[in-house]
Amino acid sequence: MKQWMKYAAAAVLAAAALTGMAGCGGSSDSKADGAKKHVAVIQIMQHGSLDAANQGVIDQLAKRGYTADKIEIDQQNAQGDQSNLKNIASRFKNAKPDVIIAISTPAAQSVANEIHDIPIVGVAITDFETAKLVKSNQKPETNVTGVNDRGPVEEQVDMGLKFVPSAKKMGLMYCASEVNSEIQAEQARKHAAELGLEVVEATVANVNDIQQAAESIAGDVDFIYVPTDNVIASSIPTLVKVTDGAKVPVFVGADSMARDGALGSISVDFYKTGIQAGDMAADILEGKGKPQDMPVQDPADLTVIINKTNASILGIEIPEEYKNAVFVD
Ligand code: TRP
Repeated sequence: MKQWMKYAAAAVLAAAALTGMAGCGGSSDSKADGAKKHVAVIQIMQHGSLDAANQGVIDQLAKRGYTADKIEIDQQNAQGDQSNLKNIASRFKNAKPDVIIAISTPAAQSVANEIHDIPIVGVAITDFETAKLVKSNQKPETNVTGVNDRGPVEEQVDMGLKFVPSAKKMGLMYCASEVNSEIQAEQARKHAAELGLEVVEATVANVNDIQQAAESIAGDVDFIYVPTDNVIASSIPTLVKVTDGAKVPVFVGADSMARDGALGSISVDFYKTGIQAGDMAADILEGKGKPQDMPVQDPADLTVIINKTNASILGIEIPEEYKNAVFVD
């Protein structure tokens, strides 16, 4: 342990020396005027919603004057791997960027656990408080703030019942180790109970479990609900292949999952949440605020999204009230 700490300290010193040199020799301020701001981005994996949030952040930073030529942007994607998340977090700790953008709950948790003295702006995060990223959403009192993506879980479940009014059983699928999914699953269970629906659950540990988990419940339920779960979102086609075969519609927590083949969602606009987070990061870079006292923001608007191709595969009619939805193929 001692040995490890020595190495870490040496790495920090080396990084500090390098930054000092890159600034301008002799200055005691390593971030001297003219030095480029350094933004580090950590994303758990690639999928539509997270990519959209990422793009929103970058576009808004550019709009605020932080164009790619004026700042250094270090984009890191963990490809869904927990140990990659850890490695990226320690790299960021040593590199000491001016601000870290963390995309998804697992990504934010990995940097927040490791780093306490660099501002972190989280985006695509279900609940900052439950994930222990902040003391409270109103006043974080940690080095973390950002924009949550709390979607309307109840309305998403209602959507299932509107498409399948005779439904008695709802399937619920998510990855058991994602706290973001756990919170939404609890909300969905409660609401299903209020609606008189029986809930049949199938959790997964990783993408390799999805097919089997889906097969275990598809024959037994009237529709399936999946919250904004990173693991399942990365493999929607695997899930839908099974559920289409059983003619069971899948309702989801985010638009990208409907674009990838699930039947429908009432979704947060993730690009717009990225724009909000980009503004928060720009404020921090300009010294206008510190995460400690910047309240976590809520997403702005919701969109109903329906996958037409999936509706026709399932042979299911689109209820009148969703006629103005955004339709995708
Ligand atoms: N809300 C998820 C989290 O807190 C991230 C997320 C956003 C997501 N949009 C999604 C996951 C869509 C799956 C699908 O980590």
